[in-house]
Amino acid sequence: MPNTLNKSSLEEFVWKPDLFKDKVAFITGGAGSICRVQAELLVLLGAKAALIGRNAEKTEKAALEVDQLSHEPGSVLGIGNVDVRNVQQLKAAIDKTVERFGRIDYVIAGAAGNFIADMTNLSAKAFKAVVDIDLLGSYNTVKAALPELVKSKGSVIFVSATLHYTGTPFQIHVSAAKAGVDALARALAVELGPLGIRVNCIAPGIIGNSEGLSRLSFGTKPEEYTKRVPLQRVGSTKDIANATVYLFSQAADYVTGTIEVVDGGAWNLGTVMGSLPYPDLLLSHQKINSKL
Ligand code: COA
Repeated sequence: MPNTLNKSSLEEFVWKPDLFKDKVAFITGGAGSICRVQAELLVLLGAKAALIGRNAEKTEKAALEVDQLSHEPGSVLGIGNVDVRNVQQLKAAIDKTVERFGRIDYVIAGAAGNFIADMTNLSAKAFKAVVDIDLLGSYNTVKAALPELVKSKGSVIFVSATLHYTGTPFQIHVSAAKAGVDALARALAVELGPLGIRVNCIAPGIIGNSEGLSRLSFGTKPEEYTKRVPLQRVGSTKDIANATVYLFSQAADYVTGTIEVVDGGAWNLGTVMGSLPYPDLLLSHQKINSKL
């Protein structure tokens, strides 16, 4: 798998090795391209982690691989057959994690669903599927983890996006869902702050080799986006992992309700999909003359 870390990767980072010793992270979508590297860096820094996913085989395999980076073998648990649309399945996963590791300090709600579809090709069921995974799934994850977060005065990160800062074609379902995720983070930060729980979002930009980019790029290679990023490179999963460590660490003790945009400044130029040939590409996809 591209972009994964190894034991000597820690030398590339500025963090101290035992930063998350005795801490436990619960990560939905943890076997996916972005969240897996978030998990890897937390584990390299001493945390234990539960990776949660729908696909049992993929999730358990990823957990075994990430465990190779741990300070102590057996520090990473893979829990498959969990759909974030089902809060009971999430509660059972929380119980398994606590049974194994005794606590939960950090939650990453990273599970997401996406595909390219303009309004004329997007059924009500398809729109609902994405809103349910991204938005309801984020709510369900915190709902299930809340008793443990209260005990640990823990911290939550939602994985959001920048698509909804502008009107992004082919992404109305995700844009609506992620706008909801941002709102959820802000409101939860206010509600849970007095309990000592911090809630923030990370909004990744163009992340090379990520599953999201490969699904959404219309065949454009990551390098071709470089000029559209003020910092003149596409992002890496390590950039997202670094923001994760910052937000969970003591360095961010006074930071809650924020949306940490990690995109090299790109959204200020308009989102990448907004730069596709407009309206030609859109018109070529629309099913205006068939049943809508
Ligand atoms: N274009 C248009 N509609 C699509 C679609 C596409 N590419 N892919 C799925 N859909 C529609 C389905 O046709 C269905 O609607 P319909 O019955 O009205 O036709 C609806 O979405 C639900 O599909 P289903 O496969 O039953 O949903 P699911 O819950 O199993 O899957 C998805 C959820 C649709 C988000 C699926 O893409 C998925 O599981 N993705 C997970 C991985 C992922 O997206 N990662 C991206 C990270 S950025």
